[in-house]
Amino acid sequence: MPFDATSAPLTDGFGRTVSYLRLSVTDRCDLRCTYCMAEKMIFLPKRDVLTLEELARLSDLFIRHGVRKLRLTGGEPLVRRDVMDLFRDLSRHLSNGALDELTLTTNGTLLARHAETLAACGVRRVNVSLDTLDPERYRAITRLGDISRVLSGIAAAQDAGLKVKLNAVASRGAFEGELDTLIRFAHERGMDLTLIEEMPLGETGQDRSRTALPLSDLQRDLAERWTLTPHRHATGGPARFMQVRETGGLLGFIQPMSCNFCALCNRVRLSCTGRLYTCMGDEGSVDLRAPLRHSEAAALEAIRRAIAAKPERHRFDAARMDSPAIARHMSTLGG
Ligand code: 5AD
Ligand code: SF4
Repeated sequence: MPFDATSAPLTDGFGRTVSYLRLSVTDRCDLRCTYCMAEKMIFLPKRDVLTLEELARLSDLFIRHGVRKLRLTGGEPLVRRDVMDLFRDLSRHLSNGALDELTLTTNGTLLARHAETLAACGVRRVNVSLDTLDPERYRAITRLGDISRVLSGIAAAQDAGLKVKLNAVASRGAFEGELDTLIRFAHERGMDLTLIEEMPLGETGQDRSRTALPLSDLQRDLAERWTLTPHRHATGGPARFMQVRETGGLLGFIQPMSCNFCALCNRVRLSCTGRLYTCMGDEGSVDLRAPLRHSEAAALEAIRRAIAAKPERHRFDAARMDSPAIARHMSTLGG
């Protein structure tokens, strides 16, 4: 049988099987978070971006070869015009059992408008990025954002029956002082909160070595006020979870800089231009657009080749936060 016609799973050179695809549907965003983007970003010309139909075809291909979980990201996925058509299209994989989960990561600003439709498409959970509850700090971090829209987006998502998880990028200073409030806010509303260590992706115009906060330091500090016990909440992802006894809620820790979780990595990322990234912390990527425009067999062969060469681990170095380890911005792949 030809190499590319098998339905064999997508396995890399280290025995890891890829079952999770993160699909960036746009590099654009309505915010400009300081740790993610530069103030003046040049976005991709529209002609370089795959059509929704092409994104769906590539997703189908991954799903046919063992991907069970699909997360739409951006930039901000909800700013892409007609993105709900893509959700509707992909939802058939949930109905026929090929996919376990369809989900998204969003900044929440447009969530109120789309929550009902997302729920109707079979989306069960959303991750919403929120680093502070203070409207002025929110504006400063996001350079553009109005927190009231995010808060109503979260409420609308919960009203529509979606489970919401909050993601916060940890930083030195005000964040540390506000974290208790954020924990209470999340846990009182039945939301888990995941803390993320800042990664050196893309030039942002700010020196990350001044703001980066290792989560090991933060956890030590939290443990003075909260009772944290390790919790076996397996998401298949890089987060480690602790239960907060005082609230009953979960606190996740994602520590790409200070803790290496690559050995269990089951994911790959596809940019909105059709480039496949098999590791977030590696510059390497492989084009799928040209092969896809030729044939699905060609696209599958390119996917298998790329996955076979998936790096063993990322190359981030916590001691070198002053300059980007990777030139691409977080918004290219949405985390
Ligand atoms: N390091 C870590 N997390 C980041 N995010 C954006 N930029 C970075 C970075 N440099 C987060 C956002 C969002 C998710 C998509 O990635 O806050 O939660
Ligand atoms: Fe937009 Fe998310 Fe990047 Fe903020 S972190 S600028 S919301 S893509």
